[in-house]
Amino acid sequence: MSENILVLGSTGATGLEFLRETLPLSDGPRLTLLVRSRSKLPQDLISQSASKVRIVEGGLSDEAKLDEAMEGVTTVISFLGAYPAFSYLVTRAKPTPIANSFPLIKRVMKKHGVKRLLALSTPSHSIPGEKYNFAQWFTTQIFPPYLMPQGDAEMKAIAEHSADDDFDYTIFRVPHLTNGPADLKVYAGFYGPDFKGSQSLSRASLARWAYQEVVNKQWIRQQPALGNY
Ligand SMILES: NC(=O)c1ccc[n+]([C@@H]2O[C@H](COP(=O)([O-])OP(=O)(O)OC[C@H]3O[C@@H](n4cnc5c(N)ncnc54)[C@H](OP(=O)(O)O)[C@@H]3O)[C@@H](O)[C@H]2O)c1
Repeated sequence: MSENILVLGSTGATGLEFLRETLPLSDGPRLTLLVRSRSKLPQDLISQSASKVRIVEGGLSDEAKLDEAMEGVTTVISFLGAYPAFSYLVTRAKPTPIANSFPLIKRVMKKHGVKRLLALSTPSHSIPGEKYNFAQWFTTQIFPPYLMPQGDAEMKAIAEHSADDDFDYTIFRVPHLTNGPADLKVYAGFYGPDFKGSQSLSRASLARWAYQEVVNKQWIRQQPALGNY
């Protein structure tokens, strides 16, 4: 069966790279985009690929829109993420509106028999047994929760909701995202002496890796950290 991927966060910088990576492929997937505003989508690319794209406008907590979007879907992938906000740096408040929608998303997935879930998260969500050198420890464990308390809490909570054995999940934990090219090599693994990834990752190479993971299913029920190398 050919893939029909529900993309959450397709209007964000990485989500847009996923569209640019997959829509031009002659044997590529069909995409369903659940968006808050379709005006943020690249109109040229969408109209060139009209037969492969379905757009549903709605929020993440709108059950009827989620239900409509999930129709015929084989895989859900989330590039959702929190925007940095200075107010949270000051107040230290940590609301998690995106993660709070995951129980509903999973309920609608179950209703439609969709088992495959891939979600973007953070390496500050660490996996038991991981070991860090000083630079990795500082950039993954200290910097995000201190400087972006709300965003960090949001990305960790997305991972916690997604690591659900009722699903074939893959949680990909990303470092600093850049606008570098798609052909940079991506290392996937766990922090420790063998970890080869750097602390940066181009969004375009991440999008390419994510689609390959949809196809190859190498990291089912795992939570690899990624980085260019
Ligand atoms: N180490 C780390 O922890 C780390 C490192 C790098 C990146 N990140 C996270 O990775 C995410 C992805 O990066 P990016 O640059 O591709 O993202 P981005 O351009 O910030 O895009 C964020 C996406 O999430 C959506 N979104 C945000 N809040 C939402 C809400 N309440 N309801 C529905 N959709 C919502 C946005 O939708 P709209 O277009 O409708 O606003 C957009 O599609 C970032 O947001 C960041 O939090 C974390």
